[in-house]
Amino acid sequence: MKYKGIIFDLDGVLCHTDMFHYKAWKEIADRINTPFDEEINNQLRGVSRMDSLEKILANYTGEALSDDEKEKLATDKNERYKEMLMQMSTEDLTPQVDELLKVTKELGIKMAIGSSSRNAALILERMGIIDRFDAIADGNHITNSKPDPEVFLLAAEMLGLPPSECLVVEDAEAGAEAAAAGGFDCAGIGDANKVESVKYRLNCIKDLTDIVREIKI
Ligand code: BG6
Ligand code: MG
Repeated sequence: MKYKGIIFDLDGVLCHTDMFHYKAWKEIADRINTPFDEEINNQLRGVSRMDSLEKILANYTGEALSDDEKEKLATDKNERYKEMLMQMSTEDLTPQVDELLKVTKELGIKMAIGSSSRNAALILERMGIIDRFDAIADGNHITNSKPDPEVFLLAAEMLGLPPSECLVVEDAEAGAEAAAAGGFDCAGIGDANKVESVKYRLNCIKDLTDIVREIKI
């Protein structure tokens, strides 16, 4: 078997938190009279909280903000976002993701999370799947967010595997670039498929289950 481990991005791969991020950032952008729409929100996939704020502020024309003010905006966004995460439950685990995790486990493939989010553990707990991963590398453990490969390299290290033996699953361009930069093969969903180096282009997560089952990657 080529891959002994799979490193999953979380947001956009195993769960769908885009709308929560959008609503929480929109409240912040409105507060400082800065344009923000779903297109800008999509560019924040895989990007850390503070880097996301900086990207939003690229359109900001008001009085310069101090570091403390920026910190407060990011903290307020996160508080609103976490309130919304409380709506999540085991019902957010789709049958397709559940099946993929089961098939992967049956084949003895190790599983990790490689996410830029500092809320990864909370989301996994809400979905009732935190115990199904051998390692969780997230925004709390890294200094450089995607497209830097740090989070995936850490996840691989936690699994005790070299990058060449791990497959990364990503939905964000920044994430697919991070996988390539770290020497990982990547399975892409959605925007990640715009990145040339992506090895397996998936239409949906079920495609990965079929690949894992049939050719026992
Ligand atoms: C990523 C999301 O998983 O986590 C990004 O795709 C988000 O949109 C980033 O900005 C950081 O998330 P958090 O939960 O730490 O604010
Ligand atoms: Mg993602």
